[in-house]
Amino acid sequence: MRAVMFERYGPPEVLRQVDLPKPAPGRDQVMVRIFATTVTSAECGMRRGEPRWGRVILGPVRPRKGVRVLGLEFAGEVAAVGPRVTRYRAGDRVFGFTGFAVGANAEYKCLAENASMTLMPPGPGFAEAAASVDGFTTAWHFLRRLGKIRAGARVLVIGASGSIGTFAVQLAARAGAVVHGVCGTRNVQLVESLGAVRVFDYSVEDFARSGERYDIVFDTVTRSSFQVCRAVLATGGCYLPTTGLINNVLQARTAITGGPRVRTGMSVHKHEALAELSELLGRGELRVVIDRIHPMAEIVEAHRYVDTGRKTGNVVITVADGQ
Ligand SMILES: NC(=O)c1ccc[n+]([C@@H]2O[C@H](COP(=O)([O-])OP(=O)(O)OC[C@H]3O[C@@H](n4cnc5c(N)ncnc54)[C@H](OP(=O)(O)O)[C@@H]3O)[C@@H](O)[C@H]2O)c1
Repeated sequence: MRAVMFERYGPPEVLRQVDLPKPAPGRDQVMVRIFATTVTSAECGMRRGEPRWGRVILGPVRPRKGVRVLGLEFAGEVAAVGPRVTRYRAGDRVFGFTGFAVGANAEYKCLAENASMTLMPPGPGFAEAAASVDGFTTAWHFLRRLGKIRAGARVLVIGASGSIGTFAVQLAARAGAVVHGVCGTRNVQLVESLGAVRVFDYSVEDFARSGERYDIVFDTVTRSSFQVCRAVLATGGCYLPTTGLINNVLQARTAITGGPRVRTGMSVHKHEALAELSELLGRGELRVVIDRIHPMAEIVEAHRYVDTGRKTGNVVITVADGQ
């Protein structure tokens, strides 16, 4: 099968198109024929071997064997199932998240039946389905689980034009929150159209000097800090950054000291969020922002673009043609 591999950390050019043996599903596994995957900011970091501490998991000197084919999000069709699989059968259209197993930059991927995967609803195509998974489920985890968002909450989404951000704005607006966003000039209208009632263009306006107060500041791109954001947090408010070792330390410290809290972590088990995502997509109630679509042969170019940190929403890779 065709796949894209990297055997050393580095720039997009470390990625190579290769032919690998087609995998066979284990007893509890589902083999998915992948039609669409994506290039996310997170996996570009994996390719670079950044942050450095991440190499403890990925491989200290070079990526270890199990992570050499990247690809976190996928949509496709079940090609075969193992004998103990009951939830899926050949021909089912599925979408999901490979997590630490990565491997969706390939024509086939075998996943455990209970992996973060679900049936695709009728309606969206494979590109839209694949592009929705990580952004939506991460926004869901941070806003629902960590931020405990409620109707009337005042929410600021930093990085509102990114993958997580475009879903965070929509999720917060659907929850009945008053949503403000931070993004660059060219995306102000987009973020307003997703449900933000006020948008700060970071190139001309500093949200920290606006006089606004928030119950939740969701820093999807970790371009700000708790130090800056605590000034705009209401009593009992929380700062939710998606990355940063220091934020883990601050999470522990602010849990003890009281006052505004830092809450962070990884969205790993995505089943509950995926079920909601599937419903919303099926009802046509969620907008999946796709910036670019590249065939797998152009994956190096897609990585170069995502590395700029300037993508709007999501970048999709088509692996095979699917309806
Ligand atoms: N904790 C978890 O479970 C988890 C899960 C997934 C991802 N992540 C992490 O989350 C981060 C964000 O991922 P993502 O895919 O959503 O990002 P992304 O799509 O790559 O974000 C790009 C967007 O950020 C905007 N941006 C850049 N600088 C900004 C600034 N100073 N203020 C406001 N917006 C700015 C850009 O707009 P302009 O072009 O206008 O600048 C662009 O639209 C990554 O670091 C990833 O590793 C964490």
